[in-house]
Formats: sequence, C-alpha cells, structure tokens
Amino acid sequence: MRALNNVLVTGGAGFIGANFIRYLLEQSEFRGRVVNLDALTYAGNLDNLHEIAEGPHGSGSYNSVAVSTPRYVFEHADIREFDTVADLFARYEIDTVVHFAAESHVDRSIVGPRAFIETNIGGTFNLLEAARSAWGNRDDVLFHHVSTDEVFGSLGAEGAFHEHTPYDPKSPYSASKASSDHLVRAHGHTFGLPFTISNCSNNYGPYQFPEKMVPLMILNALEGKPLPVYGDGSNVRDWLYVEDHSSAIWSIMRRGRNGETYLVGGENEWENLTLVHAICEKVAAVRGEPTERYTDLIRFVKDRPGHDHRYAVNCNKIKHDLGWRQAHEFSSGLDATIAWYLNNTTWVERVRSGAYKDWIEANYAAR
Ligand code: NAD
Ligand code: DAU
Repeated sequence: MRALNNVLVTGGAGFIGANFIRYLLEQSEFRGRVVNLDALTYAGNLDNLHEIAEGPHGSGSYNSVAVSTPRYVFEHADIREFDTVADLFARYEIDTVVHFAAESHVDRSIVGPRAFIETNIGGTFNLLEAARSAWGNRDDVLFHHVSTDEVFGSLGAEGAFHEHTPYDPKSPYSASKASSDHLVRAHGHTFGLPFTISNCSNNYGPYQFPEKMVPLMILNALEGKPLPVYGDGSNVRDWLYVEDHSSAIWSIMRRGRNGETYLVGGENEWENLTLVHAICEKVAAVRGEPTERYTDLIRFVKDRPGHDHRYAVNCNKIKHDLGWRQAHEFSSGLDATIAWYLNNTTWVERVRSGAYKDWIEANYAAR
C-alpha cells in the first residue's frame, strides 16, 4: 500500500503541474499534502495556482505570492541543485514524487538545448538520487516520472506508439526526456527504487503558456494576429485535455504497478492545419463573425527543423489495467479552453508582459 501522504510535485507552477495539483487536492481519496517544488522559470507561474492560495493574498486574486495552506506548500527551488532537493525530502518526509519539472518546448530546445540537458537529465538524476538516499528499502513510496510520447520519435501514416515501441527521440527536447526515462528505469532496476513512468501525448487546456500551438492560435486569433503554421500544416498530433492527463497520473499513483510504464493519449489525431481551422471556426462562432475573418490570418511559415511528422498513442494498457478513460471530448474541451482564455485576460496580460514577449518576437522574426 502506497503512503501518498507527502507528495512532492516538481514543476507544479507549470501548465500540467498546476492543473494536476488542483486536480489532486480535489480528490476525496487524497488526504495528503502537496509540496510544490518549482524554479519559476519563464514557464513557471504561481498565477496558475491562484485559486489554491488562501489568506490575505489569495482568494482568486493574481499576485504571484507563494502562499501555503495546511495541505499545500510552495518551495521555490531548482532541481539542478542536489543539496536543496535532498533537504526538501527530509524536511517534508516526502514519500511520493510526481516529477513534471522540465524544459518542455521543442522549439526552445532547438534554439538553446543546454538547459534541457541540465534540467531534464541532470535535474531528474538529482531527484532520483535524493529519493534513493531518503527512502532506502521502503516499498510504500513511489517516484512517478511524467514523460512524453516524443521519446518514440515520429510515425508515418499508420500505427501508434505503445509501451514496447523502441525509443527513437529526434529533438534535443525528446532526447533529454528519453535520457531521463532511462535513468528512472536504471534506478529501479539497479537500486530497487519503486517507480512508474507515463508517456503522454499533446496536452491542451487552461493555463498553458502561449508559446505552445493551441493557446498561441487562440490568442492570436482573438487579437487578429497572424496564425503561423509550420511547413505545410500536415503534421499530426494526438490531443488530450489536461485534466485527463491528471486523472491518468492519479490512477497510476494509486493502482499502477511498480516498474511499469503507461502510455496516455487522447486517441484524437488532428493535422495541424485542420486543427487551426477548427480553432478559427470556434473563435468566429464565439464572436459571431464569419470564419474567414480568422482563417485569412493563417500564414505558412518556415518549418521546425527535424519536425516530427506524426504522433499517435495506443492507450490500451492504462485502460485495461487501471480502468482509466478520457473524460473530455475534443470539441467541448476546445470550447472550454477558448472560453478560459477569453475570460482570463488578467492571466494573459501578466504572462504576455514577461518573458513571453521576447520569445515570440525572436522566434517568429526568424521564420
Ligand atoms: P511547462 O513548461 O508548462 O512547465 C514546466 C515547469 O517546470 C515550470 O513551472 C518551470 O518553472 C519548472 N521548471 C523548469 N526547470 C526547472 C528546474 N530546473 N527546477 C525546478 N523547476 C523547473 O511544462 P508542461 O507542459 O506543464 O509539462 C510538464 C511535464 O509534462 C514535462 O516534464 C513535459 O515533458 C511533460 N509532458 C508535457 C506534455 C505537453 O503537452 N505539454 C505532454 C506530455 C508530457
Ligand atoms: O507530444 C507531447 C509533447 O507535446 C510534449 O512532450 C511537449 O512538451 C509539448 O510542447 C508538445 O510538443 P509539440 O512540439 O508537439 O507541441 P507544440 O504545441 O509546440 O506544437 C504542436 C504542433 O504544432 C507541432 O507539429 C508544431 C506545430 N506548430 C507549433 C507552433 C508553436 C505550428 O505549426 N505553429 C506554431 O506556432
């Protein structure tokens, strides 16, 4: 039986990590405490957790203050620093790790891969070593590593990734995530560290930093800016609503077998160009305007170097073994996401006034 009393969530101020913390604290079966470790890089944002904070600085206002509650603590720390990480394991009696912290954007890994190696590989190694040292031979603990379907490379027109697909990462980002997966398995195999791994497809939903495709297209459409489609737009991604990723991880934490890997996806493949058209249609419907007003904004721009053609995920294992299912249908998930970006203008403004602006200017000027 796993303890699940003191859960260290790394990267909990990022897109998926923040959605996961909110989800976990809402689960009646979860009675433990969450320790959110985040370095607050350009992608980390305490505004993503503003509903959780209580007290004078909380209650839904955006103030980026690191507020603690009896069941939630924020620790501003960097997984690249071993001593800091090891200290947190001892101080909070950590018995479970859910490891999201990473450099996560493929385009940034092409422009500057070093941080991906240092955080995704070096940082994961530090966490594993801290867990090994703190946990000894305990068997009621768990290191859950959150990874990506991109470690398997790129598919042609047919087929889907599954748990036995050979690793074939193609970008510095996916190579760094593949390395971290191997390190997790090596710690399990060599030292007996109890672990699970999930490899998930593309997430979308509230609080996603707008360098990623879905929020970038939504916000640019709302503001009448160009919609930059890489290459000819024929690349395919498998989209999953972020809450469904959280429920998959929660299933694995409770019922996943030690040493197992679970693939998670939406079973929901879209060509990029078709998806951008769908976003245009939905934004036009919300605004009561003709769709062409938005599709006219589409621009085909220089392709991403080494752009993986297609991802698709076979989720039979997690469905069969753990009874997990996607709960969100794509059309309503996209509607909810568009509504969220429309209704959260303060969040958008605050994100856009920071590091986002420089990246967008540099990235799209280069295309
Ligand atoms: P994100 O970029 O939104 O958030 C990453 C978080 O990690 C940020 O809060 C950042 O501050 C933190 N972080 C970065 N470097 C750190 C460091 N050295 N020390 C401590 N914290 C650090 O990423 P995301 O999209 O939420 O992805 C989270 C995880 O899920 C990543 O491991 C990613 O590989 C994986 N994943 C993402 C997707 C997706 O579609 N976004 C799909 C599958 C898997
Ligand atoms: O598959 C899981 C992965 O999904 C995660 O591991 C990554 O962390 C996450 O960033 C995501 O990677 P992608 O590269 O697939 O996501 P992104 O949103 O950057 O791009 C989705 C697709 O859209 C991809 O084919 C590139 C294309 N694209 C992207 C942007 C930002 C465009 O055509 N135009 C754009 O402006």
